[in-house]
Amino acid sequence: MKTIILLSVAVCLVIATVIAESNSKQQPWMNKKLDPKNRARALMNQMTAEEKKGMLYGYGCQSKEWPYVGNVAAIPRLNIPSLKYNDGPQGFRDDAIPGSTTAWPSGLTAAASWQRETLQAWGEGMGKEFYLKGANVQLGPGVCVARIPRNGRNFEYLSGEDPFLGYVLVQDAINGIQSQQVVANAKHYVNNNQETNRGSVSENVDERTRFEMYYPPFVGAIEANVGSMMCSYNKINHVYSCENNGTLMTDLKVRMGFDGYVMSDWGATHSLSIEQGLDQEMPSNNFFNQTSLDSKPQHAIDDSVVRILTGFFAVGVMDKPNPNQISSNVTSIEQNDIAQKISENSTILLKNVNEALPLQKTNLKVVVVGAQSWQPVVHGGGSGQVVPAWVKPPLWSICDMLGVDRIDPSTGTLSKCSSDNGNCVTYNDGSQNPPGTASKDYNVAILFIQTSSSEGSDRPNLSFANGQDQYTTNWGQVKGNSFRKVLVMSTPGAVLTPWADGMDSILLNFMPGQAMGDAITNVLFGEVNPSGKLPLTFPNKENEQEMTVAQYPGLQNGENATYSEGFFFGYRWYDKHKVTPKFSFGHGLSYTTFSYGKLSIDGRTVSVDLTNTGKVDGAEVVQLYVGFGDQKFGPDQREEPVKQLKGFEKYYLSPGESITATFTLTDRDLSYWNVDSKSWSLKVGKADISVGSSSSDIRSNGVMNVQ
Ligand code: GLC
Repeated sequence: MKTIILLSVAVCLVIATVIAESNSKQQPWMNKKLDPKNRARALMNQMTAEEKKGMLYGYGCQSKEWPYVGNVAAIPRLNIPSLKYNDGPQGFRDDAIPGSTTAWPSGLTAAASWQRETLQAWGEGMGKEFYLKGANVQLGPGVCVARIPRNGRNFEYLSGEDPFLGYVLVQDAINGIQSQQVVANAKHYVNNNQETNRGSVSENVDERTRFEMYYPPFVGAIEANVGSMMCSYNKINHVYSCENNGTLMTDLKVRMGFDGYVMSDWGATHSLSIEQGLDQEMPSNNFFNQTSLDSKPQHAIDDSVVRILTGFFAVGVMDKPNPNQISSNVTSIEQNDIAQKISENSTILLKNVNEALPLQKTNLKVVVVGAQSWQPVVHGGGSGQVVPAWVKPPLWSICDMLGVDRIDPSTGTLSKCSSDNGNCVTYNDGSQNPPGTASKDYNVAILFIQTSSSEGSDRPNLSFANGQDQYTTNWGQVKGNSFRKVLVMSTPGAVLTPWADGMDSILLNFMPGQAMGDAITNVLFGEVNPSGKLPLTFPNKENEQEMTVAQYPGLQNGENATYSEGFFFGYRWYDKHKVTPKFSFGHGLSYTTFSYGKLSIDGRTVSVDLTNTGKVDGAEVVQLYVGFGDQKFGPDQREEPVKQLKGFEKYYLSPGESITATFTLTDRDLSYWNVDSKSWSLKVGKADISVGSSSSDIRSNGVMNVQ
């Protein structure tokens, strides 16, 4: 009997092998041993002319027939599934069933963790939900560098103000997304650095500045094998991005070697620009369609089809059908917990005098101030927004942490105490002025304030509206030695903090996503030791970098934004002009302290000992900056920034524990874009190496001979 079974298994295996081999002979593109591009080419060669053209445009957007944000028809004859695109950079936006997906922390928020594992978890968590919703492209991550502090979409972008930060973090986000059988989309290529007049403004940027300041996050995406990119609404040097041969074909596809495909932003196609580098019009077919494409050479059409299919083969879309439907509810407690962890890892402690934080959990009389504690704003607006099913208010998280019955301000009961542990919580919506001096009713005030922003418009200023700045100032003036004032702010980017001196502690969680309540409460009470760092500079005043209307037309709707500042925006500007910002790029405190040893430089390798010199476990992001002093390089002999970020790593240490942080600098880290040779050239000379806890808190220096 056993022999018969074994024999029949063997026969089945042989048959299966024969079928598989015959299949792979009949359908070579299904041979997983081939690389994605060759599989794509093999499949493209099976397609008819109409089928090829039919892949180069959209079929509709969020309709009954085409329910996703972007849709391309399937080709059942060849087992090519429909292409299903959806927003956005912080989760699956489902306008039809809001709350059926997780509202994740935004890109800028995840970046504030300065931790690659966090970006990977963020990408995986989001990608999983796109897959479970039946989508095979996530229209994210957003990676534009934050040149303009008031840009309405800075919250979506994971680069902050630094190209190297974006270059590194984008790779983990994309690896996370694409590990879920979903193609990622790096956007918006390129120089979509403002929302004002985004549909026609010309962003005028010289070649070296593009390559050194704005392309690196897209280069990082290419190194992570991103399947697609999205060209932007704006013009670059007076040519629309989606028909700009210089930036799309020459820079992106030839010089950077991108072999995936470029889709247009929605309605950003201005011509049948397939030979200028656009591969697919979204969401419809005004310029790319069966008729118009007949006027284009077949090799161009074939190349675009291969580019599109390559990404889908690479992530496994062609090997395993995705049966999921957009109507699924894909959020869960597990997903919420991942989002919470990301928010915790990204929370930044900007100030903490007299160890006001963390708070104790007994005998605490706390007043929680501000509507943001009760009905929190946790995401930015526009195509990228994800409406959560529910957000647990921080007020309730604080009550839970202190063992106090939850306060529901709508009932009129604004104060509750626990008979077990001496804790009391009082809610104040911020409309009533605080007392002149601290009363016996509470010994700590936790103020929650927020401001947000949206796609389609820039922020009018960097302040907090609705009297939040004022009541924060008022509470900052309440006196009383044992009375502590703690501020939690949720913002879409940089803000002004005129009341900072009146606060003992300041926490920032950017656009933290739906799990904000428990995340921030864990930080407030020391369950989590904050380890986030600023991905962009917080200024002292509006337009501190003194950008002219020519550089940034702002709300005047100008037709041109000319990048005459070159490298010098963000911390590079502050260093050049020797101005100390309110809070520096890379700044973030901890409940413990760290010391740095002397630098050791051996060739291209830099090492430094880091020790936790405090009393609790904590994490420090060691940052490495490189400068070349007064040396000038290349054909344009341009002034070099004082220092530029070229390495970072987050280390978790217990009290007394030490570790050696090591960085190895690559040629690219030490090169400039040579506009004559159209390639990277090494900055041969003496490099100033600075290592520290932020761009303005350098703990250790050294010199590297670059050759
Ligand atoms: C929007 C955005 C883009 C989004 C697309 C689809 O205008 O600029 O980020 O993915 O259209 O909604």
